[in-house]
Parts: sequence; C-alpha cells; structure tokens
Amino acid sequence: MERRTIGATALEVGAIGLGCMPMHWAYTASQRSGEGSLRAVHAALDVGTTLLDTADMYGPFTNELLIGRVLRERRKDAFVSTKCGLLVGDQHIVANGRPGYVKRACDASLRRLQTDVIDVYQLHRPDPEVPVEETWGAMAELVSAGKVRALGWCAIGARAQRRSSAGMYDVTIRQLERIQQVFPVSLVQAELSVWSRDALDALAPWCASRGVGLLAAMPLGNGFLSGTLTPGQGFEPEDVRARHPRFTAEMMAANQPIVAGLRRVAGRHGATAAQVALAWVLAQGRHVVPVPGSKKAEWVVQNAAAAQLRLTPEDFAEIAALPGAVGSWY
Ligand SMILES: NC(=O)c1ccc[n+]([C@@H]2O[C@H](COP(=O)([O-])OP(=O)(O)OC[C@H]3O[C@@H](n4cnc5c(N)ncnc54)[C@H](OP(=O)(O)O)[C@@H]3O)[C@@H](O)[C@H]2O)c1
Repeated sequence: MERRTIGATALEVGAIGLGCMPMHWAYTASQRSGEGSLRAVHAALDVGTTLLDTADMYGPFTNELLIGRVLRERRKDAFVSTKCGLLVGDQHIVANGRPGYVKRACDASLRRLQTDVIDVYQLHRPDPEVPVEETWGAMAELVSAGKVRALGWCAIGARAQRRSSAGMYDVTIRQLERIQQVFPVSLVQAELSVWSRDALDALAPWCASRGVGLLAAMPLGNGFLSGTLTPGQGFEPEDVRARHPRFTAEMMAANQPIVAGLRRVAGRHGATAAQVALAWVLAQGRHVVPVPGSKKAEWVVQNAAAAQLRLTPEDFAEIAALPGAVGSWY
C-alpha cells in the first residue's frame, strides 16, 4: 500500500488506516465478535494498513485489550494511535484533562496495548475545566519519558464548540495555535467525507501548511456512503446512528442521490461506492489519512484496496456536483 508521511516527526503510515471503534463502541452491538474483530485487524495489517486507531474509552478498555493481543505478536507491522481524556460514566461521558490523570491513563493504555510505546497519543476532547496548555504539557512529558512518540488532537467535538457565526473549526484552530507553543502537534483527527466537508475550509489547510497530518474520521459517513444501508432499516439503541439526524428514514432517503453518484463513479472503475468515498478523501491532500471503521475482515480488505483507486478529473467533477447532505448533527 502507498505510504504517507505525517507530522513534525515524519511518521510513516499506510495511506489507509483502520478505525477500530466499531469493534466495541458506537455501532450495532449484536454484530460484535471478538474473533471476527481480531481477524479484521490481522487482515488490515496483512494488506499494508499500519495505523490502528483506538481509544481507552472504546468499550471502555476492551478495544485496547483486543489491539494489545495483536500488538503482542505483530508490533513491528502496526502503528498504534490511541486516545485519553474521556471517561465513560453510568449516565454521561465526561472530559478529564488533568495532568495527573493523563499520565495514569497513558500507563494503563500501555499495559492494555501490551507495548512499551504508543506511536501517537491523542487528546480525545479538551477538558473545559483545564487550560489546554496544562493537559498538552503533561502529554509532552510522556514523549520525553519515551512512552509516546508523538501527539495528536481530536477535533471531533468542534461542532459543539462552534459559535453561531464562526467557522466550524475556528475554536479548534485557536486551541491548536496555543498547544503548538507547548509541543508540536503531529496529527489532528476530524470528520471528513464526501458528505461532511467542513474540515476542508480552514482545518485541512492549517494542517497542510504546518506539516500536521489529518486523520479523516468517519470517511464512510458512518457507513452511509457505502450504499449498504437502507432507508428505514432502523438501528439498535446504542448505535450512534439511532440518534443521528442524517439516519432517520426520511433523511436517508433524501440523501440517496449522494450514494447514487458514488455508485456511478464506482461503476466506471469496477469499484464499490465505499472505495470511491475513500479514494476521494485520500485525494484531499498528501497529509490526509482516512481511518475507515470496520469490524469485518472482508470490508477492511476492500477499504484498503481504495488506496490503489485513482479517480479522474471527470470523477472529481461529478462528486463535486453532488447535492450537499440533508440533515445535520445539530
Ligand atoms: N476521535 C473521535 O472522537 C472519533 C469519533 C468518531 C470516529 N473516530 C475514529 O474514526 C474511525 C472511523 O469512523 P467511524 O468508524 O465512526 O465511521 P466510518 O468509517 O465512516 O463508518 C463505519 C461504518 O461503516 C461500515 N463499513 C466499513 N467499511 C464498509 C464497507 N466497505 N462496506 C459497507 N460498510 C462498511 C462499518 O460497518 P462494520 O462495523 O459492521 O464493519 C461501520 O458501521 C473510528 O473507527 C474511530 O477510530 C474518532
């Protein structure tokens, strides 16, 4: 697989990563299987995917434990990015960016992952009660201690931080400018896909101009862009799509022209809609690395093959002309 180099410390990864979240969090629980997930992670490494994106809160903890079983055998094949800073409670998920907590969380992740170093340690969400410099300073100390190779910032909560008239990532970029004074950011994780393009306005250029990698989360639009979901199919209660406004029967039906467009492009290449969606994300910059999430080996292999798909100017024009998505998160 094509390799991409990201971040101030020139980290090299396979161009398409693997989002490990669906194995233990946010998606259809009844389809989860430990052995199936293990097969999926091994399949990813076999086809040249290296970046495995996990977090201590996925499960919580069980996703890191599973990745640890793989790393114990194949540490050299993998590039592990995990996250700290969100605690799963009985009722709510709360942020914790206190320095002492961050350091304890890192030690616990290292134990679960069965490794002595994390390739990229990401802050899952900034803690509104703690200045970002303090949290980031503690994370920088983990680099000095040799427990972490580089640091990443998740900008997924940007919608919630947005002020009405401001750009989606204005607050994020101000936070990034502040933490860059403390320690270099190697990658930023943000939602980027054919139907969620806000990151391209200001965030992607900010990353490109500073040599920061952009990890594209939800590159398949939570599965919608693969064209395998049917309007009105329904989702299990703990599935994030059960509460996502774009996944009501009405909105899924209204957004079918986007899938139809991806299918038309895919047809010209003998590819799938999911592969076209991923090739489009990859083409947004040499610093962009999509991390499609899946727990199925078959889909992981199919997604990795998108790294070989070269879209034509005609394809890009057709995708650019697709209607914008109907329905938003808020
Ligand atoms: N930092 C953060 O706060 C944050 C937030 C969200 C996501 N992320 C990261 O970004 C990764 C990707 O996001 P995501 O997993 O939410 O969304 P996604 O990659 O857009 O979509 C995942 C969904 O697509 C399905 N899928 C995957 N490949 C497919 C294929 N070839 N054909 C049909 N369906 C396919 C998966 O099904 P199966 O699961 O059944 O395989 C899953 O339901 C996550 O796994 C996580 O690592 C981070």
